[in-house]
Amino acid sequence: MTHTTPSVITIDGPSGVGKGTTAKRVASTLGWHFLDSGALYRILAYACERHEVSLDDIDAVILVATTMAVEFDFDRDGADAILLDGTDVATQIRTEAVAAGASMVASNGAIRQVLLQRQRNFAMHPGLVADGRDMGTVVFPESSCKIFLTATADERAIRRQRQLKENGNGVSLRALLAEIKVRDERDASRTVAPLKPADDAVVIDTTHLSVSDVVTRVLELAHERFDLN
Ligand code: DC
Repeated sequence: MTHTTPSVITIDGPSGVGKGTTAKRVASTLGWHFLDSGALYRILAYACERHEVSLDDIDAVILVATTMAVEFDFDRDGADAILLDGTDVATQIRTEAVAAGASMVASNGAIRQVLLQRQRNFAMHPGLVADGRDMGTVVFPESSCKIFLTATADERAIRRQRQLKENGNGVSLRALLAEIKVRDERDASRTVAPLKPADDAVVIDTTHLSVSDVVTRVLELAHERFDLN
């Protein structure tokens, strides 16, 4: 039984940069836990929709955020189960409507505060890989291994288009690029927890890197920073 604080690797960056895939592979290679913090914001928006709670009614949203039962069961191959009050909502939380709701709840400081402790509870031995926007700056500021991934907006639009195509959906590159630029601007300019690298984060530009290149780089850093065997 160990009593030290669990090690945490934080992986932050804008949407479409490949944080989720990278973080999941790193967690799986190390045998560590994984937190998809964006999914928490999405689950909250979805839970509010299900309970017919208006996202403008902050007290009611906070009540949902405090009481909803969430469980993650991640699979390396992507067949994740994300349970909200016992029901798998992994597919339902990936719609554009839920993303828009998630972005709304994520811009409220009081709501973020409620989700803060829930996110910190994921830090467990042997370690945690946490993926999000403010993992290194707000949620796990004590982490000694902080990564911030970037890629050009064009490259992220191309990646997103490829991903959508694999799922049988076709969207024009121009529309995706416009959407990504709007989201980047909103994420970076909001007053609470704006998207920015922590001062001590290692910034990796993934524009010309494959997922395995990025995973290898993160694992190298993890081995430098932690006593891993
Ligand atoms: O990464 P994602 O698209 O699943 O995130 C959903 C929303 O939550 C998005 O608007 C960004 C926001 N978010 C956040 O504000 N802080 C985080 N740590 C993770 C996500």
